[in-house]
Amino acid sequence: MTPLQSYVNNIRAVLHSWNNPLKRIENATAKDQQEKEFYDMEAQPYLDDFKLDLFLYDENEQFPASHRYFYTQLADIKGKKILDCCCGYGFSSVKCAKYGAQVTGIDISTKMLELAQRNAELNQVTGLAEFKLMSAQKMEFTDNSFDYVIGQGALHHLNLELAGKEISRVLKPGGKALFIEPRIPFKWLIFIRSLIPTKCLESPGGAQLSDREIEYFSRFFSSTHVEYFMFLTKLIRFPLFKKISSGLEHADSRLSKRIKFLRKLYWAFVLEFTK
Ligand SMILES: C[S@@+](CC[C@H](N)C(=O)[O-])C[C@H]1O[C@@H](n2cnc3c(N)ncnc32)[C@H](O)[C@@H]1O
Repeated sequence: MTPLQSYVNNIRAVLHSWNNPLKRIENATAKDQQEKEFYDMEAQPYLDDFKLDLFLYDENEQFPASHRYFYTQLADIKGKKILDCCCGYGFSSVKCAKYGAQVTGIDISTKMLELAQRNAELNQVTGLAEFKLMSAQKMEFTDNSFDYVIGQGALHHLNLELAGKEISRVLKPGGKALFIEPRIPFKWLIFIRSLIPTKCLESPGGAQLSDREIEYFSRFFSSTHVEYFMFLTKLIRFPLFKKISSGLEHADSRLSKRIKFLRKLYWAFVLEFTK
């Protein structure tokens, strides 16, 4: 493949991730199959070379603002029943188990589940964390099973109608669903992003979420709260801005609260839904 072809392919991949036909309900099963194949391949190198330093739990790990906010919402989960949707490598499952919660992680990739299990074993939380092969679009749990449903980079891989019904169904009344997801800012920003020749990391069934999709998803819950992240902090990928990352995070937080119009420029959100 010539550099020009790979450049054009990359533009296609980024634009595709913004309007992905696999996210439509009629393609939900095909999407799951493609996602499974993609994530089995993603997991394999980690299984072949299981790096202890990558998976060993670090209580003092430094997280970006979105993740700090996410885990602050979970500060009081000791003894609670948590469903980690699309648990992948199992990092959030292990963290919730370390907080004392009883965690069930589900994923459609068997290899990811193998990794999550090894992660739990390494960090000695197998008594509190279990992993099951299951689609978040069609769950086997009974109604009202969980106090919390959580997901990091989960919803944007799912058909929102199927997942919305299922997540709401398995949550106990008053239970909370909490997600960190990538967001579609202004469309022209996505286009500019597609021209920057960095590899598009999105999976075949993944697509950033729009505010309109979240509005739709909200109908399955009694209340919704959204916090916006990553506008100026997007610059952190350039070394010059790394040193002032906490200042940028602070500015992002203030700007999103004070100037609502600017929210259109944010690339991630934490979504909280209450049943
Ligand atoms: C971006 S990864 C996120 C993994 C994990 N939450 C993390 O933060 O490391 C997305 C995960 O969603 C899983 N996935 C995709 N579609 C799914 C579905 N319908 N049901 C369950 N898991 C799914 C994939 O196999 C993959 O492990």
